Amino acid sequence: MSHWEKEKEVVERSDLPITRDVLTAGFRSLGVQKGDVLLVHSSLSSLGWVVGGAVTVIDALMEAMGPEGTVVMPSFTTGNTEPSGWRRPPVPESWWDTIRQEMPPFDPVTTPVRGLGVIPEVFRKYRGVIRSNHPQLSFTASGKRAKDIMENHPLEAPFGEEGPLGKLYRLSAKILLLGVGHSANTSLHLSEELASLEGHPPEAQGAAAIEDGVRVWQTWEQIDYDSYLFGEIGTAFDKEAGTKPQKIGLAQCSLLEMSALVDFGVRWLKEHREYYLGEKLPRDAPS
Ligand SMILES: CC(C)(COP(=O)(O)OP(=O)(O)OC[C@H]1O[C@@H](n2cnc3c(N)ncnc32)[C@H](O)[C@@H]1OP(=O)(O)O)[C@@H](O)C(=O)NCCC(=O)NCCS
Repeated sequence: MSHWEKEKEVVERSDLPITRDVLTAGFRSLGVQKGDVLLVHSSLSSLGWVVGGAVTVIDALMEAMGPEGTVVMPSFTTGNTEPSGWRRPPVPESWWDTIRQEMPPFDPVTTPVRGLGVIPEVFRKYRGVIRSNHPQLSFTASGKRAKDIMENHPLEAPFGEEGPLGKLYRLSAKILLLGVGHSANTSLHLSEELASLEGHPPEAQGAAAIEDGVRVWQTWEQIDYDSYLFGEIGTAFDKEAGTKPQKIGLAQCSLLEMSALVDFGVRWLKEHREYYLGEKLPRDAPS
């Protein structure tokens, strides 16, 4: 389907164009408050047809939160990763060294966001937005706490306690799932870190980066993050927490307390350790 055909389909399921005021009122009614620290995962097309697209959504979010608020989005660059682990699609082994040698280094200004939608890609270019300096799993932020959250993003444990997610947790951040489900709920990777499951295998990672002004292929080890059970964990969390999704435009949206979600995720992972670590084994539901 071409871009315009997909947009046509969005127009056809929209009764009215969605405006900034509709979005701001929707965010407030969902529970977004002035001064909040908010981590956003989004799908523009889920909202119905928005006048001004991604820019309008970002402006509405900022309006709902006011100058004291902080908006955070993922800005991952998952094309800049160890090529031997690529699966969608894999590339021939004979290409791996060339990729490691030739991949352009992560640059917070120029490297585009990959696969997370148009809203994070537009947001990263907004005036005043700060991007963390992780070559592969960076975040972006705007607002009062942006600098604190974005600085010193560790290369190892990029989703760990010392990284942006750990800081968001300690700041009692909220998570906005805007037209997307828990499979996009990155904060559960912090649960994976905090659960410290014995037997969770490490993963060798690599990415092109700039070190002391020179392009290098950095390598490190991190836990083998895996989101394949996030939908299941999120559904169980919603049940326990009594999450009340609301429609904004046509999009089903949820606002979650990040610390409650992450703590729940840690408990769930410990309780379902075998099931979670057994991803390479048959995926039977736990008893
Ligand atoms: C993958 C994902 C981004 C796809 O959502 P999407 O709505 O199809 O894509 P975008 O948000 O990029 O929106 C672009 C689409 O909006 C539509 N669109 C274009 N103009 C529009 C407008 N004015 N108003 C509304 N929709 C519009 C188009 O269909 C466009 O599709 P195209 O880029 O293929 O042409 C989404 O499902 C998702 O998973 N988001 C969360 C990502 C995340 O944070 N993951 C965390 C990983 S741990």
